[in-house]
Amino acid sequence: MSRMNDFNISKEIKPVKVIAVTGGKGGVGKSNVSINLAIALCQLGNKVMLLDADLGLANVDIMLGLKTKKNLANVLDGECELKDIIIEGPHGLQIVPASSGTKNMAELSPMQHAGIIHAFNDIGHNLDFLIIDTAAGITDMVVNFIQAAQDVLAVVCDEPTSITDVYALMKVLNKEHQITRFHVLANMTKNSQEGRDLFATLSGVCSRFLDVTLNYLGAIPFDDNVRSSVKKQKAMIEAFPRSAASIALKALAKKIQRWPVPTNASGNIEFFMERLVS
Ligand SMILES: Nc1ncnc2c1ncn2[C@@H]1O[C@H](COP(=O)(O)OP(=O)(O)OP(=O)(O)O)[C@@H](O)[C@H]1O
Ligand SMILES: [Mg+2]
Repeated sequence: MSRMNDFNISKEIKPVKVIAVTGGKGGVGKSNVSINLAIALCQLGNKVMLLDADLGLANVDIMLGLKTKKNLANVLDGECELKDIIIEGPHGLQIVPASSGTKNMAELSPMQHAGIIHAFNDIGHNLDFLIIDTAAGITDMVVNFIQAAQDVLAVVCDEPTSITDVYALMKVLNKEHQITRFHVLANMTKNSQEGRDLFATLSGVCSRFLDVTLNYLGAIPFDDNVRSSVKKQKAMIEAFPRSAASIALKALAKKIQRWPVPTNASGNIEFFMERLVS
């Protein structure tokens, strides 16, 4: 009996907050938000993993100037283990790099499914946050990652196609996957009013046609330092910690850190992986 208790204690699972960063449209700033948010959460003392889920066009490692020899595709092919491909970014951030041409999770064999769930399960127990940088578009892969996450952070910017694309994504997620809650972050704003206006426009359409609750997370201003840091292959909040966009991203991390810890099955990394690959 006591042995059994010991076993339960050692196997106790720490809940992890799984956040998918998305936006529907390409180039709205999903990767920049994911990377800098992940590092800001590390700076606040959290254990964070960033999963580059842009499997067609991986770029988190390149944006941070990190070298990878192997990636998720090699894990799926059984050539190495997940722990072998994780690279360490700034402040202890763990990064799971993707690759061009990685197989769709839906094409994996049951053995591969089980393998990848197991692999994430082994390394995921210590995490506070798993941030997923998704690709643009509404592909099955993007939808898979989002519906497996607990929270969806939709990045929008002041372009008509950004609003229509994010609305189209929310519609699919709401009508076909019963997702009812989205966090909205305005990016590249000229002033704070622009962010609020964007949110009001999106809320207006959603309340008419969808059964969703939107939560406004605020705005990240347009900041030339974002582009400069991409060129330098450094995270902006490290290269330009005092820039306007960095300050906004750090405030965002503090806000997200206060989100309640999941107490149900969705706070379990294994549950996330099962939802992802099933
Ligand atoms: N707040 C900002 N201010 C200025 N430029 C920005 C800001 N956020 C992102 N950018 C710039 O916008 C471009 C697209 O950013 P990013 O790659 O993060 O977008 P994405 O949504 O991940 O794109 P993709 O859909 O191709 O994955 C980059 O050149 C980046 O430097
Ligand atoms: Mg990207």
